[in-house]
Amino acid sequence: MTAAKPVPVITVDGPSGSGKGTVTQLLARQLGWHLLDSGALYRLTALAAERKGIAFDDEGALATVARNLDVRFEPGPAGEPARVVLENEDVSAAIRTETCGDNASRIAVIQLVRDALLQLQRDFRKAPGLVADGRDMGTVVFPDAPVKVFLTASAEERAQRRYSQLKQAGVDVNITALLDEIRARDDRDMNRTSAPLKPAEDAQVIDSTGLSIEEVLGRIMALQSQA
Ligand code: C5P
Repeated sequence: MTAAKPVPVITVDGPSGSGKGTVTQLLARQLGWHLLDSGALYRLTALAAERKGIAFDDEGALATVARNLDVRFEPGPAGEPARVVLENEDVSAAIRTETCGDNASRIAVIQLVRDALLQLQRDFRKAPGLVADGRDMGTVVFPDAPVKVFLTASAEERAQRRYSQLKQAGVDVNITALLDEIRARDDRDMNRTSAPLKPAEDAQVIDSTGLSIEEVLGRIMALQSQA
């Protein structure tokens, strides 16, 4: 008897603002596969901990929050991201603030928190396939994924993209402050000891500076069709 073929996974790792979120949503829709937004799990852990009044240096309590996250991802209308529901409350907007992203990257340095989220992330791997968006999808969570992409872009371009997104949403921001935040977050994500942000050895690095979303999508679909 031959062993069942493992469910295929495309991992897309990279720094904030590299376009991973948009590209992975489009990829999952085009392929009809499931989507894991692993950053949302770190953001949810930070939000739930903050609401419970847990200090960001209480590693054991943070890991307990991560292990017991009561979260549902409900499909949004076509073209919209999934609704994120934490303890029956829609927190889709609350987890997208700069503060929540910053808090997420602070608790993401804690190995106990990362361990607590590992199985939850692996449980997203269901037929017919999974597109996994994060920082350590190809290196730690799905090391056997047949297609691994590391998507990057210059810090300036990422700050500009975030600036335009926030402006469009009516949020008044300062681009220099955004660039500083992006650099600080990159620094924390790349230099932590637990699962630092880096391309897997077998990842294809795509620099999206100056590329359209469609061009990036086309390159990843080409890798998938060769896998
Ligand atoms: O991707 P997103 O900006 O939503 O992630 C928020 C933070 O969560 C990141 O800055 C990173 O510190 C952390 N993260 C992580 N590992 C992942 C996904 C996100 O450490 N797989």
